[in-house]
Amino acid sequence: MSDTTPDDSTTTPPIHVPVLPREVTELLDLTPGLTVVDGTVGAGGHARLIQELIQPAGRLIGLDRDPMMLKHAERALRGSGSTLVHAGYTELPDVLARLQIPAVDRVLLDLGLSSDQLADSERGFSFDSEAALDMRYDTTEGVPAWDIVNRAAEKELARIFYEYGEERYSRRIARRIVNQRPVATAVELARIVRSAVPHPKGRQRIHPATRVFQALRIAANHELQQLETLLDEVLPRCLKPGGRAVFITFHSLEDRLVKQAFRDRNRWKNLTKKPLRASASEQRENPRSRSAKLRAAVKL
Ligand SMILES: C[S@@+](CC[C@H](N)C(=O)[O-])C[C@H]1O[C@@H](n2cnc3c(N)ncnc32)[C@H](O)[C@@H]1O
Repeated sequence: MSDTTPDDSTTTPPIHVPVLPREVTELLDLTPGLTVVDGTVGAGGHARLIQELIQPAGRLIGLDRDPMMLKHAERALRGSGSTLVHAGYTELPDVLARLQIPAVDRVLLDLGLSSDQLADSERGFSFDSEAALDMRYDTTEGVPAWDIVNRAAEKELARIFYEYGEERYSRRIARRIVNQRPVATAVELARIVRSAVPHPKGRQRIHPATRVFQALRIAANHELQQLETLLDEVLPRCLKPGGRAVFITFHSLEDRLVKQAFRDRNRWKNLTKKPLRASASEQRENPRSRSAKLRAAVKL
């Protein structure tokens, strides 16, 4: 964990467009003076909207595992008095202890990958990236995806693709990878996956490697374990009674965990029986919003 220092190095402007902006601010029920954590601050799109609604005297604390995204957030929030910290959201209790804040009023989690990370060909997140297949949000720690792809046993790879990608051809793909490794780049992996799966006739809705890429990203970043820790341990400790948590998820595995957690009536008053989805016009303007689901709850 480290606080970010102001940095004037020229980063190109972010391309990420925050999803469900109106729904997020409404369900967070923001008023001046609140202390709000954006646990996945990214390019600071949501954070800027939040910051405007909690002034004067409100405080925004933004966390992200990715130093590149924190640079974008710094630019977006410069001069606003926000606190940005390089940390995973599971480190929130330590971050708050250091800032001498016992508990906060609101927490936003907009999970997964930002458009800027996807577009950065050096990170290995996109199918056409010629760079090393890294896929870590925080490249200063942990195990990159190429290490998993090249070292894991065939069975383990199949498990990852099946459990984290819900990939029906998981075993076939794992076998093909093991026969063709080492795999160095994302583009190589995408080609191997494409060669291992049947090609249905007609236009395909998604790239054949979509589920495998999702699965590897989840595995490399321990995304589901992080989310479980957040829901079971971090939010109960860090959110004030009456405080609100708002989640945006992008696949069913994440959404299921949030949905199950909010069912606990001893801990949460669920505000979204069904998850909110982006309107047709938002989906047209921001295709990334098509798979977004928003859930919100009040901590009892
Ligand atoms: C969808 S983007 C957030 C975009 C942001 N809401 C905005 O409007 O610009 C998700 C961000 O979460 C970060 N992230 C992923 N896992 C994280 C974790 N465990 N802790 C903190 N940040 C994380 C990613 O690096 C990425 O920048």
